[in-house]
Amino acid sequence: AEKAVEPLQSGMVVGLGTGSTAALAVAAIGRRVAAEGLDIVGIPTSESTATQARQLGIRLGDSAIGNKIDVTIDGADSVDLETLALIKGLGGALLREKIVASASDRMVAIVDGTKIVPSFDNRPVPVEIVRFGWEATHRKIAALGGGPKLRLGADGAPRITDGGNIIVDCGFTGIAAWAALPARLKAIVGVVETGLFIGIASEVIVASSAGAKIYRPR
Ligand code: A5P
Repeated sequence: AEKAVEPLQSGMVVGLGTGSTAALAVAAIGRRVAAEGLDIVGIPTSESTATQARQLGIRLGDSAIGNKIDVTIDGADSVDLETLALIKGLGGALLREKIVASASDRMVAIVDGTKIVPSFDNRPVPVEIVRFGWEATHRKIAALGGGPKLRLGADGAPRITDGGNIIVDCGFTGIAAWAALPARLKAIVGVVETGLFIGIASEVIVASSAGAKIYRPR
């Protein structure tokens, strides 16, 4: 998180990710705002990130994303270091995260080694779907082999996203072309977005006890 925040300069528009790792980056930005008057405009990817950023005195931009975003800093759940493909959304913010990351000149993913995987086989892939007719959407996703399971909140009720939708968590195996899977899922009526971020990350920073290592596309 510190490494990703270091290059930020006043005047930049910065996408602020969601999750425990992204929260460390937001905290690091907050420290630079307080210590050196860093003046960036943050575009939050969730209500929880917006609340954290406001508390730290980080200026927030219009959620309509009228401006170009210079860089987005966000966490990830699974990372393929060969291709810099990511799976995101265990925190439930995948739709806004993908909108913000896709509107950014650069997307920096920040993770620790536990997120690096040899393959996406059986890794949880969240898929955000609309509530209306969700059972039909669920059936069609199941036909693709993802074994979708409706995500429930602590109260046992379906987890509702910031966008007012619900999430099914899938796990795919034997996918020959992962890059084609998002389009196959999105061709199903009722699917809003998938947690597969393929061709979006510009770099991945992996933290370990030895320090932070930056991976860029080969
Ligand atoms: C939120 O929707 C997610 O995409 C998070 O970015 C992702 O789950 C990583 O979260 P942690 O940093 O908390 O592991």
